[in-house]
Amino acid sequence: MGARCAPLFLLFFGTLLVLPHLSRGATRYYTFNVTLTNVTRLCNTRAIPTVNGKFPGPKIVTREGDRVVVKVVNNVKDNVTIHWHGVRQLRTGWSDGPAYVTQCPIRTGQSYVYNFTITGQRGTLFWHAHVSWMRATLYGPIVILPKRGVPYPFPKPYKEVPIIFGEWFNADPEAIVAQALQTGAGPNVSDAFTINGLPGPLYNCSSEDTFKLKVQPGKWYLLRLINAALNDELFFSIANHTLTVVDVDAAYVKPFDTDIVLITPGQTTNVLLRAKPDEGCPAATHLMLARPYATAAPGTFDNTTVAAVLEYAPPGHIKSLPLFRPSLPALNDTAFAANYSAKLRSLASPDYPANVPRRVDRSFFFTVGLGTTPCPANQTCQGPNGTKFSASMNNVSFDMPTTALLQAHYNNIPGVYTTDFPVVPLEPFNYTGTPPNNTNVSNGTKVVVLTYNTSVEVVMQDTSIQGAESHPLHLHGFDFFVVGQGVGNYDPSKDPAKFNLADPVQRNTVGVPAGGWVAIRFFADNPGVWFMHCHLEVHTSWGLKMAWVVNDGPLPDQKLMPPPSDLPKC
Ligand code: C2O
Repeated sequence: MGARCAPLFLLFFGTLLVLPHLSRGATRYYTFNVTLTNVTRLCNTRAIPTVNGKFPGPKIVTREGDRVVVKVVNNVKDNVTIHWHGVRQLRTGWSDGPAYVTQCPIRTGQSYVYNFTITGQRGTLFWHAHVSWMRATLYGPIVILPKRGVPYPFPKPYKEVPIIFGEWFNADPEAIVAQALQTGAGPNVSDAFTINGLPGPLYNCSSEDTFKLKVQPGKWYLLRLINAALNDELFFSIANHTLTVVDVDAAYVKPFDTDIVLITPGQTTNVLLRAKPDEGCPAATHLMLARPYATAAPGTFDNTTVAAVLEYAPPGHIKSLPLFRPSLPALNDTAFAANYSAKLRSLASPDYPANVPRRVDRSFFFTVGLGTTPCPANQTCQGPNGTKFSASMNNVSFDMPTTALLQAHYNNIPGVYTTDFPVVPLEPFNYTGTPPNNTNVSNGTKVVVLTYNTSVEVVMQDTSIQGAESHPLHLHGFDFFVVGQGVGNYDPSKDPAKFNLADPVQRNTVGVPAGGWVAIRFFADNPGVWFMHCHLEVHTSWGLKMAWVVNDGPLPDQKLMPPPSDLPKC
């Protein structure tokens, strides 16, 4: 074909088939039937809520630009909602999922159709239940492939494998959180961590329940790591294999090599793994291990280790071969955490620019941390000094409303929330020094209201109240850029000069360093009501959460869509 024919050829086939920016996305339909299913782990059988009888739940596979439609049917006695964690939900806040924030829960016997489009994201996210602790068993991967015809900005993997971390409880997690909230004490910890639902051979009565990844020598694998655990950040490593991080929270990063990945609840990380070539492949079994990075007091978290197996094909000789174990950092290795997060940079290439807000319209300073609530009269409490554990941002412990905030916003229903969430702490103190004598929190259903397209900076400062602790903060409805982080108290006169506005990592969940601070920026370009909370479920239960109300913009495509007709009622 001559050169002159090329434009016509492209025009004809391109618009129909290949030109990615012209192709309309497909629609992917799923039905999620939430039922009780008997699952046995650690020789303990429980009837757990699952989606379609699967644990972990089914994988959603989609492409950037596709529409995803999921009908969720609730056939368990508990309330259910599903959150599509990290999906931007542009103008479709009704499909975001957090109970009493964007919707009322789906009651027993009822259903609700979530309907949203994947825009400008590629990588891995996950879905999980978003009411009480139901996400302990209701979770699964969301795989977002690039648009058809668009390559990855890294070598094409031979195979792609989701690796989803979870926590297994021998008791009912709903009973555990109910008891903790009643007594004021910390909740019982999990009995095991899991990889793809399996605890692996390091736990009693569990060696049959081991995830095995079979690889072929010399081939590249893309592992889609997801931390769906309730309450624990995790270190992950594979014996004798270096991993290349290429994507976090469905945004590409500048690739870097590491032997150990740190992943908080709510974060995802895509890593390339190169299986060793035949010559270099020792006849051995390589363990993949994950165990917590935890800054809380020993005894207050599950400190066990989940193992899976990396197996070279052909298999069949696992038991007799030498077993290689990776080494992992100490449970409280905060220096590792700081180093690791400093390595994460946006790809920031011409094809994938980093649209970092350079100026800031509104800046916020939020303390995040624990606190206490006085014990009610006629009760004894088992929290610190006979109080109840609580948690807050800017000393406001968030009270969940009984009407969904988004409905209240859309329909102008008064009395559901107030708009006076503090922009800065009302009573400043030495946040990382000796805690104040009075550690009681205040309560309220307080939000911040933002004008459409405001550029926002939030500095989140950990406090030492009840112990400095790392808090993985998750923002719904947006990705943000992590422009700075540091130890100790944030210094507004010195620290902003060090901010990275060129290629900061873009994500939806960031660890507020134990005894330190982190600064994030985003454009409030998504109208709706957006939850922000610690993704350690225990802290969310204690009130470490707040919400942003983003008003409609002036143009038609800057407005929240009307609610779907099947939106559950409270
Ligand atoms: Cu993954 Cu509001 O949560």
